[in-house]
Amino acid sequence: MFDSRSCLLVTGGTGFLGGAVIADLVTRDIWPQVRMLVRAASKEEGAQRIRATLARFEVPAAALARVSAQQIVLGDFAAPDAIFADRALEAVTHVINSAALTTFATTPDLWPINVDGTFRFAERLVGLARVERFVHVGTAMCVGPDAVPPVAEDHVPTDPIRHLVPYTETKIEIERKLRRELPQLPLIQARPTIIVGHSSLGTRPSGSIFWVFRTAMLLERWTVAPEGRIDVVPVDWTAHALIELALKCSLKHSLYHLSAGPTLASTFAELDAAIARGRGTTPILSRYRQSSLEQLAAMSGEYQSRLGPCHPRIMQRAIRIYGSFAALGMTFRNDHLLDEGLPAPPPFAAYADLCAATSEGITIADQMMADFK
Ligand SMILES: NC(=O)c1ccc[n+]([C@@H]2O[C@H](COP(=O)([O-])OP(=O)(O)OC[C@H]3O[C@@H](n4cnc5c(N)ncnc54)[C@H](OP(=O)(O)O)[C@@H]3O)[C@@H](O)[C@H]2O)c1
Repeated sequence: MFDSRSCLLVTGGTGFLGGAVIADLVTRDIWPQVRMLVRAASKEEGAQRIRATLARFEVPAAALARVSAQQIVLGDFAAPDAIFADRALEAVTHVINSAALTTFATTPDLWPINVDGTFRFAERLVGLARVERFVHVGTAMCVGPDAVPPVAEDHVPTDPIRHLVPYTETKIEIERKLRRELPQLPLIQARPTIIVGHSSLGTRPSGSIFWVFRTAMLLERWTVAPEGRIDVVPVDWTAHALIELALKCSLKHSLYHLSAGPTLASTFAELDAAIARGRGTTPILSRYRQSSLEQLAAMSGEYQSRLGPCHPRIMQRAIRIYGSFAALGMTFRNDHLLDEGLPAPPPFAAYADLCAATSEGITIADQMMADFK
């Protein structure tokens, strides 16, 4: 139970999802009981990084002023033992662990940070503090591309799991390692589906992944059928769900999909209509053709004329990765979340117009930088 003696540690607070978690928490009464693990040279610099992130979420100045350097715990999962020099960790009772390396690229840092460093952090923390709940943010796609949609929360993929990118492999491996090797950790696995935009700010906090939808509309070609459903949730709803999972007195399950699910996931045609509305244009549906990755790659000569200034080879690679995921038509059931009485997310089509409107004036190449840092 979260009471006046409790302390909630949030990791990844300078990121897209963790930033939305902090933006939600900063207006709550429990804010003085929140601590944030941040990569920075000093606590003051850490607080500045959090304030800069909150500014992207258009948090009012009075709330920004509530962020104090004393709430910052300095640390990096690349060197997890150093984090424990800070005695503030002894008081931690609840955790929302949103920090991770989220790149789809193959980099040698992925496993040391997402698996080894994250595990060591949890291991040291549970040995030091009276942790009552540890909400670990995973990803629904960790079950691999061979899972059959809609994927239920209790689906257990058969080994070896195929992965489209090494990132998803690290995400399932850390969950399994925490369950297997740290049975004393009060672990809650929260697995979001694709997170795009904010339900009232559109893409202003981050254009992450929205550039993919813009690309599909401007190419008038993508890997999904017009009636194919795309499971997307907004960042503010996802953050709220994570906080509920962290603070709720008791939970009925240990694994949750934070997803729209098969019925609320919008179709490509619905998104086309919404994005056209947001841009003040007409839907592309009559000209749209579902296409293979090869057909999309063969259009590279048209990328610059259709998508604006961009590097065709980089764009071709990005289209291949994100087009492969889209082609799977993955949806994830969210029965466990609904069973807790948490609200369902708004359909993407209900705020995709806002995402489109807030993306005007930003080139696709610039917007995609959020996913290629
Ligand atoms: N966005 C999505 O569509 C999506 C979907 C499913 C699941 N998720 C999961 O949601 C979580 C947050 O994702 P996001 O989209 O918010 O990612 P993000 O914007 O890239 O943020 C990642 C956060 O993790 C921190 N971090 C990275 N490496 C770290 C390290 N070595 N030590 C400590 N902190 C580190 C970053 O800190 P710096 O600012 O210092 O780099 C940043 O605060 C991740 O676990 C991800 O797997 C995201």
